[in-house]
Amino acid sequence: MTSPHVPVTVIGLGPMGRAMIRRLLAGGHPVTVWNRTPSRADGVVADGAVLAPTPRSALEAAELVVLSLTDYAAMDAILDGAADALAGRTLVNLSSDTPDRTREAAAWAAAHGAAFLAGGMMTPAPTVGTDDAYAYYSGPRDVFDRHAEVLGELAAPRYVGADAGLAQLLYQAQLDVFLTALSALMHATALVGSAGVPARDFLPEALTTLADVPAMLTSDGGTPEGLGEQIDAGLHPGDLSTAAMMGATADHLVAASAAAGIDVGLPRAVQDHYRRAIAAGHGGDGWTRIVDGIRDPR
Ligand SMILES: NC(=O)c1ccc[n+]([C@@H]2O[C@H](COP(=O)([O-])OP(=O)(O)OC[C@H]3O[C@@H](n4cnc5c(N)ncnc54)[C@H](OP(=O)(O)O)[C@@H]3O)[C@@H](O)[C@H]2O)c1
Repeated sequence: MTSPHVPVTVIGLGPMGRAMIRRLLAGGHPVTVWNRTPSRADGVVADGAVLAPTPRSALEAAELVVLSLTDYAAMDAILDGAADALAGRTLVNLSSDTPDRTREAAAWAAAHGAAFLAGGMMTPAPTVGTDDAYAYYSGPRDVFDRHAEVLGELAAPRYVGADAGLAQLLYQAQLDVFLTALSALMHATALVGSAGVPARDFLPEALTTLADVPAMLTSDGGTPEGLGEQIDAGLHPGDLSTAAMMGATADHLVAASAAAGIDVGLPRAVQDHYRRAIAAGHGGDGWTRIVDGIRDPR
């Protein structure tokens, strides 16, 4: 369903900002944009957006202001000089940063009379507005409810609580999974590449392993929720594989990487997780036992 035509200002015209603008324009919303590098607006202006000459005039064009920037420092750089134009507006910051930095920004916005929602878009730019897209939001519930319909045109909104840092924490946790998996793929590619195996041959096989991970992970718990319940209960059954076995493999991966002359930072971090579990006497437990040493690295 398309919500009534609500004017929206979008600040930040990277791939994500531009994808959101196109979706809003397709929904019939008047969209005003601003970007540090104005030429990046050419495409969306051709599609119907209006380029504001200054951040202040961009703020003044709509009550709902969406920010899509590299980080929160970029928001400061853009809005500090126009903070007196914030009163009565809603800032929806969909930029990445730490939860604490996000909470500071929420307080800063409140001090200038603006409502603030933090969000994390859990979708790549090309799938904005599709059924696959969702986004975490946190901040005041009434502010979320007021804008959920328009924001829902970008990605299915998942409200996670009043604490502005919470949506950011969930976003970062998801990026933890995503970025670590991407680095693992490139580390493995470098490892086989050291013996002349081309990435073109290896990557399809590596992706098969990645696709098998969910079934492997849930073989103990039955479902992701079941596995999570076991972890929450401190249960780490080792009947299918043990931390000791995984730790031995992690040792081999570090040694193989060192012998190949490639970076060992990532496999050493993994090795540390298993070594801590084994040193604490949990070598016979399942791999999920490593969560203890990650929670408390002392
Ligand atoms: N791209 C994706 O698929 C994707 C997916 C999920 C979430 N996200 C999140 O969405 C946000 C935007 O992503 P993106 O890919 O569109 O990022 P991007 O290409 O890095 O765009 C960043 C935007 O921030 C602006 N910017 C950065 N530093 C600035 C500064 N100091 N002062 C003023 N403007 C500044 C850039 O302006 P200029 O054009 O002048 O450089 C640009 O408009 C990020 O937080 C990202 O984590 C992106």
